[in-house]
Amino acid sequence: MKLSVKEAIEQRRAARSFSLDPIPEDILAKIFRLGVLAPSGFNLQPWRFIVVREEENKQKLRACAFDQRQITEAPVVLICCGDRRVNNPDYIENVIQLGQEAGAMNDKYANSMRSAIPQLFQHHPCFESREAWTNRHTMLAVAQIMIVAQSLGVDSCPMEGFVTAQVKEAFNIPPEVDVCCLLPLGYAKEPLKQYGGRFQNEKIFFNETFQEDIVL
Ligand SMILES: Cc1cc2nc3c(=O)[nH]c(=O)nc-3n(C[C@H](O)[C@H](O)[C@H](O)COP(=O)(O)O)c2cc1C
Repeated sequence: MKLSVKEAIEQRRAARSFSLDPIPEDILAKIFRLGVLAPSGFNLQPWRFIVVREEENKQKLRACAFDQRQITEAPVVLICCGDRRVNNPDYIENVIQLGQEAGAMNDKYANSMRSAIPQLFQHHPCFESREAWTNRHTMLAVAQIMIVAQSLGVDSCPMEGFVTAQVKEAFNIPPEVDVCCLLPLGYAKEPLKQYGGRFQNEKIFFNETFQEDIVL
């Protein structure tokens, strides 16, 4: 790693412009691998990423993204998606098998997953919509990808400025897969956008209930 986690978090800025330099394959693979070590409910890992590198496809994506130039300048753009189909029994078995291979899954937990996951998606007591659920998870992985990338000297720009229906059609994304954000990755052209500041902890953390101020 070039930067510590603290340094990567402090130095990350949403890059609005990228140089032509490509990201070495081994660095990209490392970013992807570490990024998807993010947590997920039942370890379902619903995030899916379309890796866009071809000029023609970047142009197509830019046209769905209000013509934002980061899309075509960055050497790699991820279309970050969340797949709602993770409650499919075959998929649940895959997750169970993964846990078994890692030595982290006993029969009792496997059986509880087989019944709890379909129920979670049928009654959804923990989320209002499946789209909220896929977004909840995918954006965690996206955040981790951004920090890992930064630690390896690679800049990024999370983007919600795109028309979902257009992206889904242009990139053959199934109806049950939600597009959560776009993420150009590459090397920012100087000067970087300036740090825009963050609220003090006292404004955004609360003590025990939402009504009570905290002293930190
Ligand atoms: C979910 C999300 C969507 C965003 N969408 C866009 C976007 O479409 N275009 C853009 O240039 N920046 C976008 N940004 C970047 C923000 O403008 C940027 O993160 C914010 O101003 C704070 O700046 P910093 O990330 O450099 O600290 C987005 C950020 C997030 C988290």
